Amino acid sequence: MSKPRILVARAIFPDIVERLRQHFEVQDNPEDVIWTPAELAERLADKDGAFTTGSQRIDAALLAAAPGLRIVANMAVGYNNFDVDAMTAAGVQGTNTPDVLTETTADFGFALLMATARRMTESEHYLRAGQWTKWSYDMFSGSDIHGSTLGIIGMGRIGQGIARRGAHGFGMNVIYHNRSRLSPELEAECKARYVGKEELLRTADHVVLVVPYTPASHHTIGAAELALMKPTATLVNIARGGIVDDAALAVALREQRIAAAGLDVFEGEPSVHPDLLTVPNVVLTPHIASATVPTRRAMANLAADNLIAFFEQGAPLTPVNTP
Ligand code: DGY
Repeated sequence: MSKPRILVARAIFPDIVERLRQHFEVQDNPEDVIWTPAELAERLADKDGAFTTGSQRIDAALLAAAPGLRIVANMAVGYNNFDVDAMTAAGVQGTNTPDVLTETTADFGFALLMATARRMTESEHYLRAGQWTKWSYDMFSGSDIHGSTLGIIGMGRIGQGIARRGAHGFGMNVIYHNRSRLSPELEAECKARYVGKEELLRTADHVVLVVPYTPASHHTIGAAELALMKPTATLVNIARGGIVDDAALAVALREQRIAAAGLDVFEGEPSVHPDLLTVPNVVLTPHIASATVPTRRAMANLAADNLIAFFEQGAPLTPVNTP
């Protein structure tokens, strides 16, 4: 019997491609070419499955061009690149990679919070530019992390990981906002108190965004929300671009209506809003919150396991829809 045909849409660990070859006929992309939607559709036309990384849009037009496609395994926990309704209607299974990246991503969220609050990149640029000629009492004074109020918007697994780090590691007072409240047991474990979004924005010293990107979460933070925040507050986004209105944020940063921001994700990435590149009080990283070798390997292996389980056992491990 012939093996199912799989497209691996981006370059991934070569040994994991080899693992896939033991089960499938694989077309991969070792040169990591960024295919246009039309080029992707052309390559999927004769495929049974796809391994994607979150930067390939899977929508009705693409599905129409790939009539044999049965599963798309995303190497990401977020799957806003999937039109889930269109996939379900076309009978296509979608999967993601939850859990394996939770702690690594929470570590990074906390690192970005600390770098932002303590002005680490801004002060490093100053030093590298040879501008450090003397010590002064107010040089690069930031805001405290220990004992401050941490506001988390989006209290899924990663949000809870950040809450635990803040409450248990840094004695922070943790408040959160989410579509639904956590159980009393989880609230106690995270030492987190549920509040409305407006109260969170008004009272938090550090706001961290960890919500999934959906039409409902588009521009969760825009000019009106930024205006509610304290002028000393910081904002961190490790969720998805589009959750923050980057143009409004650049204005708030330039006018120091909030103290600073840390951004790992951007609307329209890898393009970054040009105004964000010119304000000093923002730490910018290129969507690397889950980027450690063990975690990226675990994500790639889970995406591969989903393909193998789907074709060999009839059901994937971590589905996102029920086609
Ligand atoms: C995820 O897993 O969703 C990360 O953002 C990496 O894409």
